[in-house]
This record gives sequence, structure tokens and C-alpha cells, in this order.
Amino acid sequence: MLELFAREVKEGLSQSPKRLSSKWFYDSIGDSLFIRIMNLPEYYLTKSEEEIFAKKTYQILSSLVPDSGEFDLFELGAGDGSKTMHLLTALKTRKFTYRPIDISSNSIDNLQKRVAEELPSIEVEGMQGEYFEVLAKLTTGRPKIILFMGSNIGNMLDERANEFLLKLSAVMEVGDRLLLGVDLIKDESVILPAYNDSEGVTAEFNLNLLDRINRELGGDFDRKHFKHTPQYDKESGVAYSYITSMIEQDVKIDALGQTYHFVEGEKVFTEVSRKYDEKALAAITNHTSLKLVDRIFDSKEYFCDAIYEKE
Ligand code: AVJ
Repeated sequence: MLELFAREVKEGLSQSPKRLSSKWFYDSIGDSLFIRIMNLPEYYLTKSEEEIFAKKTYQILSSLVPDSGEFDLFELGAGDGSKTMHLLTALKTRKFTYRPIDISSNSIDNLQKRVAEELPSIEVEGMQGEYFEVLAKLTTGRPKIILFMGSNIGNMLDERANEFLLKLSAVMEVGDRLLLGVDLIKDESVILPAYNDSEGVTAEFNLNLLDRINRELGGDFDRKHFKHTPQYDKESGVAYSYITSMIEQDVKIDALGQTYHFVEGEKVFTEVSRKYDEKALAAITNHTSLKLVDRIFDSKEYFCDAIYEKE
């Protein structure tokens, strides 16, 4: 893991413009910062999807879950399970296995404990690993229902998101269903504060990546000379996060045996958060043989859980 991190940091900082992948945000500090982000007043995404799961549980059930019989309920990138808990509660009397999949065994363990405590009748089988590997290996003969929530898909630009959904569709059988949570295109005055909160938690979340490089790769990034500078591009519906160098400076990273030069105002690109409309959703599901069967919105129509059936 460390080698891959080192390799990718090296590759990203050698590019022009420089970039670092958002997938490295999530060490244990990043995980807890993201939990704080989900609770920020400005971060409407989690609250909107939570509202859908709380108030439209039965609409989700009727579009997503077969009327009878056993099934497996997968969740990709499970998180703390708060939203899913509504669904699990409503499914309490059905025979199924809840199978959260996450790269972090830590979050799987916590989730497993939570379900065991709050809903002891539900069978949980958490699986640590890479989504497709786990999904491809697991053939139970029962229909699969897959949850991919939180607009996590938005961390990929459309072409990569489409590749991802093609791969996902390839491990699904005809009739299997997918719930895909996506954040919707809306006014900048709502989107931008979600990525630039007044408490500075999102800034902390982004800049933690520099600390992580310092901790794990022996870097000497000086945090006070870098700033979190998010942007929202209205034309494309994409929120971008950058870390901007406030001065001209050199940063040495021991494990890479490398020094990187930053000019004043230079931006390191760290994250995309794509926002969707019908057209963008159609683009990422193109050629996937996933047929849209329902779209479920929160009351403000900020967020959408789109439900697909594999044809
Ligand atoms: C977890 C990818 C959905 O893009 O909104 C939150 C991550 N980044 N604040 C998002 C994130 C900055 C989040 N996702």
C-alpha cells in the first residue's frame, strides 16, 4: 500500500499541472474528518440522501428489492451505515444477507458491530477488499442488490464512471438491481459552500493529504503556505478541489528522493465531485445494459437515488 501511495504521489507531482488523487484522503484522520464533513450544515449531500432513505423507504423497497425470495444486499464503500439502517430496518422480516464491502476493514468492523447491536436478526457478512474482486468471487446463486450511495461515483469523471459501471454491470446477472446515489446539478450558492465550509473542516480534509505525505513519505510540506481552494464549474457541473501554493517554495519528499518546486499561486488538483442531470446520468450508464427503473428525490431535489435493473 505504501509503495502504491509513494508511486502515485511521485507520478502526480511530476505532472503539469500537479495532481494528487482524492482516494488518498482516507487514512484514519481523513476518515474522521469525512464523518465531520457529513455532519456540517453546508454539506447537504448526506442529509438529502438520508431524507430519501428515511421518508421514501417503501419506494426504494418496491423498486429495488424482489417481492419475494432470498437475496444478497451489497453496499460498496459502506461508511457508517446510517442511511442503510433505514432500509435494513424495513427489511427485517426478509431472508437476505447484508454484505458491505470496503477497502477499510476498520469501517467494515464498525458497521458489522452496529448492525449486530441494532438489528440482531439481520445476517451481516462484511467483506474487506476491492469491489469488483469481491463481487466477482461471490456467487451465491441469489439475486444481487447493489447500493452505491453518497455520490461516490462523482469522484470519477464521466468516462471513468462509465468504465466503472460497465465493470459493475459485468458482475451482475439479468434482473439484479443497483441503487446509485448522485448529487444533482444545482445553484453554485448551494454547491460551493458544501466544499468550502465556514468551520474549515473541508480545508482540513484536503490539507490532511499533505500531512499524510509528510507522515508516511517523509515530506516537508509546510501547511501554512498552502490553501484549500475549491471551484465549481457551472458549464460542466463539476466541483473541483485544489490545494494552492501561497508562495514560491520547494518541498522535499524523502521517500521519493525528490524535491518539488511550486510557484506562487500554483494549484495542485486533488478531487472532482461531479454533479448530475439526466444527460450526465445517461452518459455514465451508456452501453452498460443497466435500465433506469426509478428515480427517487429528496424534498428539495438536491439529490437523487437512481435505481437500475440489469437487462
Ligand atoms: C465522498 C466523494 C461523495 O465528493 O462530496 C466531501 C467527498 N470531498 N467534501 C464528495 C468530499 C470534500 C465526497 N464524496
